[in-house]
Amino acid sequence: MSDERVALVTGASSGIGRAIALRFGSKGMRLGLVARREDRLRAVGKAVGDRGGEALLVPGDVRDAKLAAAAVRDVVKRWGRLDVLVNNAGVGRYAPVEDLPEASFREQFDTNVVAPFLFTQAAVPQMKKQKSGQIVNIGSAVGYVGTARGTAYVATKWALRGMNECWREELYPFGIKVAYMAPGFVVSEFNGRKEDPGVPEAEWALTPDDVARAVEGIVDQGPNSDIREIVMQVRDRS
Ligand SMILES: NC(=O)c1ccc[n+]([C@@H]2O[C@H](COP(=O)([O-])OP(=O)(O)OC[C@H]3O[C@@H](n4cnc5c(N)ncnc54)[C@H](OP(=O)(O)O)[C@@H]3O)[C@@H](O)[C@H]2O)c1
Repeated sequence: MSDERVALVTGASSGIGRAIALRFGSKGMRLGLVARREDRLRAVGKAVGDRGGEALLVPGDVRDAKLAAAAVRDVVKRWGRLDVLVNNAGVGRYAPVEDLPEASFREQFDTNVVAPFLFTQAAVPQMKKQKSGQIVNIGSAVGYVGTARGTAYVATKWALRGMNECWREELYPFGIKVAYMAPGFVVSEFNGRKEDPGVPEAEWALTPDDVARAVEGIVDQGPNSDIREIVMQVRDRS
């Protein structure tokens, strides 16, 4: 039976966001897809349709404060509700602290922290009206530790986890669940990597679909369950 739920996925043009869109699409879900690369977004939208889902493309930059409101408005106008928000769009730039440009620090906070705040702020009134909703924040295994050269990126994932904890406590009385999904190393286009099965990391690293499967588990959890976080390590840690 087709899953009629409506989701908004940011960063759906590649990697983890694309894999989540394809999994949700295979369930028959109706999806608002957000990213800057319109051609890539169009291809994901088509793949969602081919799998039995429906896609509404919302091209744009998640750092643009108006985009979040427009994305929620468009999705609700089209399907009348919003059940799931996946805050996935993100960038990571590693550099020694003394070399990290201030602009890069700000870019990472604007994309990885401010944008999830804006999308959540836009989605919550609709979810409160419905008395239900699931927000999934794509964090990282580095949201629990420190790493050399990770000043900005690592701090953004701690900050996202902090917001995740606040939203959980603030929103559960309204029937809204909030979860932090924390993968280890995933082969994607992240940080300028190439999403190519030929790269050596593909032998041992997580795939975007590994993460999408866990996100599917979060959105399909039982009515009395409220998953707080999933930390996903790579199986082969030798
Ligand atoms: N890969 C890993 O090892 C790993 C591990 C843990 C967590 N994560 C997290 O997983 C999430 C997805 O990353 P990924 O690995 O799938 O990398 P990816 O393949 O580079 O995907 C990043 C996505 O974010 C979108 N995005 C980035 N900046 C944006 C902006 N300003 N406005 C709109 N969309 C933007 C990109 O779309 P456009 O470029 O088309 O805008 C793309 O769809 C990120 O939050 C990342 O921190 C990744």
